[in-house]
Amino acid sequence: MIKIRGFTKRYESFIAVDGLDLDIDQGDVFGFIGPNGAGKTTTIRFLTTLLKPSTGQAWINGHSVTQQVDQVKRSIGFMPDMFGVYDGMKVWEFLDFFATAYGLPRGKRRALIDDVLDLVDLTHKRDTLVNGLSRGMQQRLCLAKTLVHDPPVLILDEPASGLDPRARVEMKALLRELQKMGKTILISSHILPELADFCNKIGIIERGKLLAAGPVKDVIRSIRQNRVIKIMLSHPSEACEVMLAHHPQVRNLSSAEMEFKFEFSGNDEDVQKLHHDLMTANLPIVWFAEVEADLEEAFMKITKGLVA
Ligand SMILES: Nc1ncnc2c1ncn2[C@@H]1O[C@H](COP(=O)(O)OP(=O)(O)OP(=O)(O)O)[C@@H](O)[C@H]1O
Ligand SMILES: [Mg+2]
Repeated sequence: MIKIRGFTKRYESFIAVDGLDLDIDQGDVFGFIGPNGAGKTTTIRFLTTLLKPSTGQAWINGHSVTQQVDQVKRSIGFMPDMFGVYDGMKVWEFLDFFATAYGLPRGKRRALIDDVLDLVDLTHKRDTLVNGLSRGMQQRLCLAKTLVHDPPVLILDEPASGLDPRARVEMKALLRELQKMGKTILISSHILPELADFCNKIGIIERGKLLAAGPVKDVIRSIRQNRVIKIMLSHPSEACEVMLAHHPQVRNLSSAEMEFKFEFSGNDEDVQKLHHDLMTANLPIVWFAEVEADLEEAFMKITKGLVA
């Protein structure tokens, strides 16, 4: 659905994006994650036909973003990172303006505007001036604008930025609904945990380079090469500590009285063996589990270049 090959953008000697390749399939919700200045907006502007590449190509819905601009524009709904202020325009007029720009006939526009307003929960603000809406409402209106021509692909540059926690949750619920409607979505953010629970794929970009991309679990696993295991005991056991401390695949063992946490470099079979050995040693273990990767930590690690 979205395919990027060798996208590079240079500003004189500065390389903003460097040889980016990316594939996003139909129905994917792809999280494009990176710190400030990583190259997210640059890539998004290229995909939305607003920026010429130094080199490289991309296709959306089979259309070339450099050669089939009209077809690409019809295939995408784009929410930029900045929301322009439209002085003196009412909510419905704002949507009508874009629906007209997309050539939708007058007879169909009213029903369509009602539908998208209902979807983003702004029906009650139909006749309010756009600049009189709260930030969260403006973001939702901006999302509504991307939907008026019913595009198969949505490209959203930080749609949740500047929103309070409640508005973020509402924005997420709205995006889930769009996902269920079968839209292919590319969404950018600085915050990995914010996206990881509802994207099926993510890509991490830093200083213009894609460091990792693919299904969320795979990316997180590739970042965290060692799994982390936690064991809890019913009472303190020196034997358990000795066994773990001498195990060749155990690293960074930390122990509290009745709790151990460590990195384990083995595969599934090795974990099984460790579990078996601990059990047969008759230790007072009440809980043994792999701990979920801490996404924030994983993101910090990869963007610091500790893991390539
Ligand atoms: N017109 C321009 N001229 C020169 N440098 C630019 C231009 N536009 C962007 N850049 C640089 O390209 C790099 C990538 O910027 P970009 O806006 O794509 O980052 P971003 O990942 O969207 O960051 P943010 O999270 O802050 O939105 C930055 O270092 C930026 O300063
Ligand atoms: Mg940006």
